[in-house]
Amino acid sequence: MLDVDTGIDDSLALVFLLASPDAEILGIASSAGNVGVQQVAANNLAWLDVCQAPPIEVTVGSPVPLVIPLQTTEDTHGPQGIGYAELPPSSRPLSARSAADMWADLVRANPGEVTGLVTGPLTNLALALRIEPELPHLLHRLVVMGGAFNYAGNTTPTTEWNISVDPEAAKVVFDAFSVVPAERRPIVCALDITERIEMTAEHLKRLGVRAGSMPEERVHEADADNVRSAASNPVVRHLSDAVRFYMMFHRQQGLGHISHMHDPFAAAVALDPSLVQTRPATVDVELVGTLTRGMTVADWMGMWGRDPNADIAWRTDPEAFFDLLIERVGDFAARLYPPEGARL
Ligand code: BDR
Ligand code: CA
Repeated sequence: MLDVDTGIDDSLALVFLLASPDAEILGIASSAGNVGVQQVAANNLAWLDVCQAPPIEVTVGSPVPLVIPLQTTEDTHGPQGIGYAELPPSSRPLSARSAADMWADLVRANPGEVTGLVTGPLTNLALALRIEPELPHLLHRLVVMGGAFNYAGNTTPTTEWNISVDPEAAKVVFDAFSVVPAERRPIVCALDITERIEMTAEHLKRLGVRAGSMPEERVHEADADNVRSAASNPVVRHLSDAVRFYMMFHRQQGLGHISHMHDPFAAAVALDPSLVQTRPATVDVELVGTLTRGMTVADWMGMWGRDPNADIAWRTDPEAFFDLLIERVGDFAARLYPPEGARL
Protein backbone atom coordinates (compact mmCIF):
# COMPACT_ATOMS: atom_id res chain seq x y z
CA MET A 1 0.00 0.00 0.00
CA LEU A 2 1.02 3.60 -0.56
CA ASP A 3 1.12 6.51 1.85
CA VAL A 4 1.60 9.74 -0.07
CA ASP A 5 1.39 13.53 0.31
CA THR A 6 0.59 14.15 -3.37
CA GLY A 7 2.69 16.22 -4.38
CA ILE A 8 4.19 16.47 -7.90
CA ASP A 9 6.67 13.63 -7.54
CA ASP A 10 4.14 11.60 -5.51
CA SER A 11 1.84 12.00 -8.56
CA LEU A 12 4.44 10.42 -10.81
CA ALA A 13 4.97 7.65 -8.28
CA LEU A 14 1.25 6.91 -8.27
CA VAL A 15 0.94 6.93 -12.07
CA PHE A 16 4.05 4.76 -12.37
CA LEU A 17 2.56 2.17 -10.01
CA LEU A 18 -0.80 2.25 -11.78
CA ALA A 19 1.12 1.65 -15.01
CA SER A 20 3.06 -1.29 -13.56
CA PRO A 21 1.57 -4.73 -14.17
CA ASP A 22 3.61 -6.14 -11.27
CA ALA A 23 1.95 -3.76 -8.76
CA GLU A 24 -1.40 -4.40 -7.13
CA ILE A 25 -2.36 -1.29 -5.18
CA LEU A 26 -4.33 -2.40 -2.12
CA GLY A 27 -4.97 1.11 -0.86
CA ILE A 28 -3.75 4.68 -0.89
CA ALA A 29 -3.30 6.57 2.38
CA SER A 30 -3.29 10.36 2.09
CA SER A 31 -0.92 12.18 4.40
CA ALA A 32 -0.68 15.86 5.20
CA GLY A 33 2.60 17.26 3.93
CA ASN A 34 3.24 19.04 0.66
CA VAL A 35 -0.34 20.35 0.93
CA GLY A 36 -3.19 19.76 3.38
CA VAL A 37 -4.53 16.25 3.69
CA GLN A 38 -7.91 16.91 2.06
CA GLN A 39 -6.19 18.33 -1.02
CA VAL A 40 -3.82 15.34 -1.06
CA ALA A 41 -6.82 12.99 -0.99
CA ALA A 42 -8.55 14.95 -3.78
CA ASN A 43 -5.37 14.75 -5.87
CA ASN A 44 -5.14 10.99 -5.36
CA LEU A 45 -8.74 10.49 -6.50
CA ALA A 46 -8.25 12.79 -9.48
CA TRP A 47 -5.17 10.88 -10.67
CA LEU A 48 -7.14 7.63 -10.41
CA ASP A 49 -9.68 9.17 -12.78
CA VAL A 50 -7.05 10.38 -15.25
CA CYS A 51 -5.57 6.88 -15.21
CA GLN A 52 -9.00 5.23 -15.56
CA ALA A 53 -8.10 3.09 -12.55
CA PRO A 54 -10.47 0.50 -11.11
CA PRO A 55 -11.89 1.35 -7.68
CA ILE A 56 -8.98 1.69 -5.22
CA GLU A 57 -9.57 2.69 -1.62
CA VAL A 58 -8.25 6.15 -0.78
CA THR A 59 -8.15 7.00 2.92
CA VAL A 60 -7.60 10.34 4.61
CA GLY A 61 -4.85 10.56 7.18
CA SER A 62 -4.18 12.80 10.11
CA PRO A 63 -4.51 16.50 9.21
CA VAL A 64 -1.56 17.31 11.48
CA PRO A 65 1.75 15.75 12.54
CA LEU A 66 1.96 13.89 15.87
CA VAL A 67 3.19 16.83 17.93
CA ILE A 68 3.93 19.95 15.89
CA PRO A 69 1.72 22.08 13.64
CA LEU A 70 1.56 21.19 9.94
CA GLN A 71 3.93 22.91 7.57
CA THR A 72 3.06 22.75 3.84
CA THR A 73 5.09 23.71 0.78
CA GLU A 74 2.96 25.19 -1.99
CA ASP A 75 6.11 26.99 -3.24
CA THR A 76 7.53 23.62 -4.22
CA HIS A 77 4.42 21.83 -5.46
CA GLY A 78 1.95 24.54 -6.46
CA PRO A 79 -1.23 25.76 -4.75
CA GLN A 80 -2.94 22.37 -5.08
CA GLY A 81 0.15 20.21 -4.87
CA ILE A 82 0.17 19.23 -8.53
CA GLY A 83 2.10 22.14 -10.02
CA TYR A 84 0.40 23.70 -13.06
CA ALA A 85 -1.75 20.61 -13.69
CA GLU A 86 -5.51 21.14 -13.48
CA LEU A 87 -7.21 17.81 -12.94
CA PRO A 88 -10.98 17.51 -13.13
CA PRO A 89 -12.33 16.93 -9.58
CA SER A 90 -13.20 13.29 -9.04
CA SER A 91 -16.56 11.96 -7.94
CA ARG A 92 -14.98 8.81 -6.52
CA PRO A 93 -15.78 8.40 -2.82
CA LEU A 94 -13.22 8.67 -0.04
CA SER A 95 -12.99 5.75 2.34
CA ALA A 96 -14.75 6.01 5.68
CA ARG A 97 -11.83 4.44 7.57
CA SER A 98 -8.74 6.36 8.55
CA ALA A 99 -5.36 5.94 6.89
CA ALA A 100 -3.93 4.48 10.11
CA ASP A 101 -6.77 1.94 10.29
CA MET A 102 -6.16 0.99 6.67
CA TRP A 103 -2.46 0.29 7.38
CA ALA A 104 -3.35 -1.88 10.37
CA ASP A 105 -6.24 -3.69 8.68
CA LEU A 106 -4.32 -4.45 5.48
CA VAL A 107 -1.29 -5.96 7.19
CA ARG A 108 -3.45 -8.01 9.54
CA ALA A 109 -5.48 -9.34 6.61
CA ASN A 110 -2.38 -10.13 4.50
CA PRO A 111 0.40 -11.04 6.95
CA GLY A 112 3.83 -10.96 5.35
CA GLU A 113 2.48 -9.98 1.94
CA VAL A 114 2.08 -6.22 1.82
CA THR A 115 4.85 -3.86 0.75
CA GLY A 116 4.38 -0.43 2.29
CA LEU A 117 5.65 2.61 0.40
CA VAL A 118 5.73 5.96 2.18
CA THR A 119 6.58 9.03 0.10
CA GLY A 120 5.30 11.61 2.57
CA PRO A 121 5.66 12.26 6.30
CA LEU A 122 5.43 9.15 8.46
CA THR A 123 2.48 10.37 10.56
CA ASN A 124 -0.07 7.78 9.44
CA LEU A 125 2.34 4.89 9.84
CA ALA A 126 3.29 6.05 13.34
CA LEU A 127 -0.42 6.18 14.25
CA ALA A 128 -0.94 2.73 12.74
CA LEU A 129 1.80 1.38 15.01
CA ARG A 130 -0.31 2.44 18.01
CA ILE A 131 -3.20 0.37 16.62
CA GLU A 132 -1.05 -2.61 15.59
CA PRO A 133 2.37 -2.75 17.30
CA GLU A 134 3.14 -5.99 15.40
CA LEU A 135 2.95 -4.10 12.09
CA PRO A 136 6.73 -4.28 11.41
CA HIS A 137 6.51 -8.09 11.56
CA LEU A 138 3.29 -8.25 9.52
CA LEU A 139 4.55 -6.11 6.65
CA HIS A 140 6.50 -7.78 3.87
CA ARG A 141 8.77 -4.75 3.46
CA LEU A 142 8.69 -1.02 4.02
CA VAL A 143 10.20 1.46 1.57
CA VAL A 144 10.52 5.05 2.71
CA MET A 145 11.45 8.17 0.79
CA GLY A 146 12.95 10.37 3.45
CA GLY A 147 16.01 11.57 5.26
CA ALA A 148 19.46 12.81 4.37
CA PHE A 149 22.52 11.04 5.73
CA ASN A 150 25.93 12.04 4.40
CA TYR A 151 24.15 14.83 2.57
CA ALA A 152 22.68 18.31 3.05
CA GLY A 153 18.98 18.69 3.81
CA ASN A 154 16.42 20.31 1.51
CA THR A 155 14.29 21.88 4.26
CA THR A 156 16.87 22.88 6.84
CA PRO A 157 20.63 22.52 6.33
CA THR A 158 20.48 19.05 7.88
CA THR A 159 16.91 17.90 7.33
CA GLU A 160 14.85 16.42 4.51
CA TRP A 161 11.21 17.49 3.98
CA ASN A 162 9.28 14.30 4.84
CA ILE A 163 11.15 13.89 8.11
CA SER A 164 11.09 17.60 8.87
CA VAL A 165 7.28 17.77 8.69
CA ASP A 166 6.89 15.10 11.38
CA PRO A 167 10.18 14.16 13.08
CA GLU A 168 8.41 12.53 16.03
CA ALA A 169 6.57 10.18 13.68
CA ALA A 170 9.80 9.33 11.87
CA LYS A 171 11.45 8.42 15.16
CA VAL A 172 8.50 6.20 16.14
CA VAL A 173 8.77 4.33 12.84
CA PHE A 174 12.55 3.84 12.88
CA ASP A 175 12.40 2.71 16.50
CA ALA A 176 9.55 0.30 15.78
CA PHE A 177 11.42 -1.34 12.89
CA SER A 178 14.51 -1.99 15.01
CA VAL A 179 12.98 -5.38 15.91
CA VAL A 180 12.69 -6.86 12.41
CA PRO A 181 15.09 -9.39 10.87
CA ALA A 182 17.55 -8.23 8.21
CA GLU A 183 15.34 -9.23 5.27
CA ARG A 184 12.49 -7.07 6.59
CA ARG A 185 14.55 -3.94 7.27
CA PRO A 186 13.03 -0.81 5.70
CA ILE A 187 14.73 0.38 2.53
CA VAL A 188 15.34 4.11 2.89
CA CYS A 189 15.67 6.26 -0.20
CA ALA A 190 17.16 9.47 1.15
CA LEU A 191 18.25 12.64 -0.59
CA ASP A 192 21.73 11.14 -0.95
CA ILE A 193 20.34 9.03 -3.78
CA THR A 194 17.05 10.67 -4.81
CA GLU A 195 18.77 13.95 -5.72
CA ARG A 196 20.65 11.97 -8.35
CA ILE A 197 17.34 11.15 -10.02
CA GLU A 198 17.16 14.28 -12.17
CA MET A 199 14.28 14.50 -14.61
CA THR A 200 14.97 16.72 -17.61
CA ALA A 201 12.95 18.21 -20.47
CA GLU A 202 14.38 15.45 -22.66
CA HIS A 203 12.77 12.82 -20.42
CA LEU A 204 9.38 14.53 -20.81
CA LYS A 205 9.87 14.65 -24.57
CA ARG A 206 10.65 10.93 -24.61
CA LEU A 207 7.56 10.22 -22.51
CA GLY A 208 5.39 12.01 -25.06
CA VAL A 209 6.97 10.11 -27.95
CA ARG A 210 6.51 6.77 -26.18
CA ALA A 211 2.83 7.58 -25.58
CA GLY A 212 2.32 8.60 -29.21
CA SER A 213 1.29 12.04 -27.96
CA MET A 214 1.28 15.02 -30.33
CA PRO A 215 2.83 17.56 -30.72
CA GLU A 216 6.33 16.93 -29.42
CA GLU A 217 6.47 17.75 -25.69
CA ARG A 218 8.67 20.79 -25.14
CA VAL A 219 9.37 22.30 -21.71
CA HIS A 220 11.89 25.07 -22.12
CA GLU A 221 13.40 27.12 -19.33
CA ALA A 222 12.73 30.32 -21.31
CA ASP A 223 8.97 29.55 -21.55
CA ALA A 224 6.64 32.18 -20.08
CA ASP A 225 4.88 31.24 -16.84
CA ASN A 226 1.56 30.75 -18.59
CA VAL A 227 2.81 28.17 -21.11
CA ARG A 228 1.07 24.82 -20.72
CA SER A 229 1.37 21.45 -22.41
CA ALA A 230 -0.61 20.93 -25.61
CA ALA A 231 -0.12 17.16 -25.49
CA SER A 232 -2.92 15.17 -27.10
CA ASN A 233 -2.49 12.48 -24.44
CA PRO A 234 -4.07 13.58 -21.12
CA VAL A 235 -1.65 11.55 -18.96
CA VAL A 236 1.32 13.19 -20.67
CA ARG A 237 -0.33 16.63 -20.61
CA HIS A 238 -1.14 16.60 -16.89
CA LEU A 239 2.19 15.11 -15.84
CA SER A 240 4.06 17.60 -18.01
CA ASP A 241 2.17 20.55 -16.48
CA ALA A 242 2.93 19.24 -13.01
CA VAL A 243 6.63 18.67 -13.73
CA ARG A 244 6.98 22.05 -15.50
CA PHE A 245 6.21 23.71 -12.16
CA TYR A 246 8.64 21.43 -10.29
CA MET A 247 11.39 22.28 -12.80
CA MET A 248 10.69 25.98 -12.33
CA PHE A 249 11.06 25.51 -8.56
CA HIS A 250 14.35 23.61 -8.93
CA ARG A 251 15.63 26.34 -11.28
CA GLN A 252 14.77 28.98 -8.70
CA GLN A 253 16.82 26.98 -6.18
CA GLY A 254 19.83 27.22 -8.48
CA LEU A 255 19.68 23.52 -9.38
CA GLY A 256 19.17 23.94 -13.13
CA HIS A 257 16.29 23.04 -15.44
CA ILE A 258 15.65 19.67 -13.79
CA SER A 259 13.47 18.16 -11.12
CA HIS A 260 14.34 15.53 -8.54
CA MET A 261 12.09 12.49 -8.86
CA HIS A 262 12.39 11.33 -5.25
CA ASP A 263 9.07 9.51 -4.95
CA PRO A 264 8.80 7.65 -8.27
CA PHE A 265 12.28 6.33 -7.62
CA ALA A 266 11.20 5.00 -4.21
CA ALA A 267 8.15 3.46 -5.91
CA ALA A 268 10.37 1.67 -8.40
CA VAL A 269 12.53 0.38 -5.53
CA ALA A 270 9.40 -0.90 -3.76
CA LEU A 271 8.59 -2.96 -6.85
CA ASP A 272 12.16 -4.07 -7.47
CA PRO A 273 14.67 -3.64 -4.65
CA SER A 274 17.43 -4.89 -6.96
CA LEU A 275 17.43 -1.41 -8.53
CA VAL A 276 19.55 -0.24 -5.62
CA GLN A 277 22.57 -1.34 -3.67
CA THR A 278 22.01 -0.72 0.01
CA ARG A 279 24.06 -0.34 3.17
CA PRO A 280 22.71 -1.37 6.59
CA ALA A 281 22.78 1.24 9.34
CA THR A 282 21.12 2.11 12.60
CA VAL A 283 19.01 5.17 11.94
CA ASP A 284 17.70 7.56 14.56
CA VAL A 285 16.06 10.95 14.35
CA GLU A 286 17.29 14.05 16.14
CA LEU A 287 14.39 15.61 18.06
CA VAL A 288 16.08 18.14 20.31
CA GLY A 289 18.95 19.78 18.40
CA THR A 290 18.42 23.52 18.11
CA LEU A 291 20.00 23.53 14.64
CA THR A 292 19.54 19.89 13.66
CA ARG A 293 16.00 18.91 14.72
CA GLY A 294 14.62 16.40 12.23
CA MET A 295 18.05 15.27 11.08
CA THR A 296 18.31 11.57 10.29
CA VAL A 297 21.51 10.19 11.79
CA ALA A 298 22.97 6.92 10.51
CA ASP A 299 25.30 4.88 12.69
CA TRP A 300 27.17 2.96 9.98
CA MET A 301 29.75 1.42 12.29
CA GLY A 302 27.63 0.12 15.18
CA MET A 303 28.99 2.74 17.57
CA TRP A 304 25.68 2.93 19.44
CA GLY A 305 25.72 -0.86 19.97
CA ARG A 306 22.28 -1.21 18.38
CA ASP A 307 21.41 -3.52 15.49
CA PRO A 308 20.77 -1.94 12.08
CA ASN A 309 17.14 -0.90 11.55
CA ALA A 310 17.39 0.29 7.94
CA ASP A 311 18.96 -0.53 4.59
CA ILE A 312 19.96 2.77 3.10
CA ALA A 313 19.83 2.95 -0.70
CA TRP A 314 23.30 3.85 -1.77
CA ARG A 315 23.94 3.18 -5.45
CA THR A 316 21.74 3.05 -8.52
CA ASP A 317 21.68 3.73 -12.24
CA PRO A 318 19.46 6.82 -12.65
CA GLU A 319 19.09 6.45 -16.43
CA ALA A 320 17.95 2.84 -16.07
CA PHE A 321 15.23 4.15 -13.75
CA PHE A 322 14.15 6.81 -16.26
CA ASP A 323 14.08 4.22 -19.07
CA LEU A 324 11.72 2.13 -16.93
CA LEU A 325 9.54 5.11 -15.98
CA ILE A 326 9.21 6.33 -19.57
CA GLU A 327 8.53 2.87 -20.94
CA ARG A 328 5.89 1.99 -18.34
CA VAL A 329 4.09 5.33 -18.13
CA GLY A 330 4.38 5.98 -21.88
CA ASP A 331 2.93 2.60 -22.85
CA PHE A 332 0.22 2.92 -20.18
CA ALA A 333 -0.74 6.40 -21.42
CA ALA A 334 -0.92 5.09 -25.01
CA ARG A 335 -3.14 2.20 -23.91
CA LEU A 336 -5.52 4.49 -22.03
CA TYR A 337 -5.67 7.15 -24.72
CA PRO A 338 -4.63 5.55 -28.03
CA PRO A 339 -3.02 7.93 -30.52
CA GLU A 340 -5.20 8.97 -33.48
CA GLY A 341 -5.09 6.28 -36.14
CA ALA A 342 -4.14 3.56 -33.66
CA ARG A 343 -7.65 2.57 -32.54
CA LEU A 344 -7.99 -1.09 -33.52
C1 BDR B 1 10.21 14.77 -0.51
O1 BDR B 1 9.56 15.97 -0.10
C2 BDR B 1 8.42 16.19 -0.87
O2 BDR B 1 8.29 17.55 -1.17
C3 BDR B 1 8.54 15.32 -2.09
O3 BDR B 1 7.25 14.92 -2.52
C4 BDR B 1 9.37 14.16 -1.61
O4 BDR B 1 8.56 13.15 -1.06
C5 BDR B 1 11.63 15.11 -0.91
O5 BDR B 1 12.32 15.68 0.15
CA1 CA C 1 6.16 13.22 -1.31
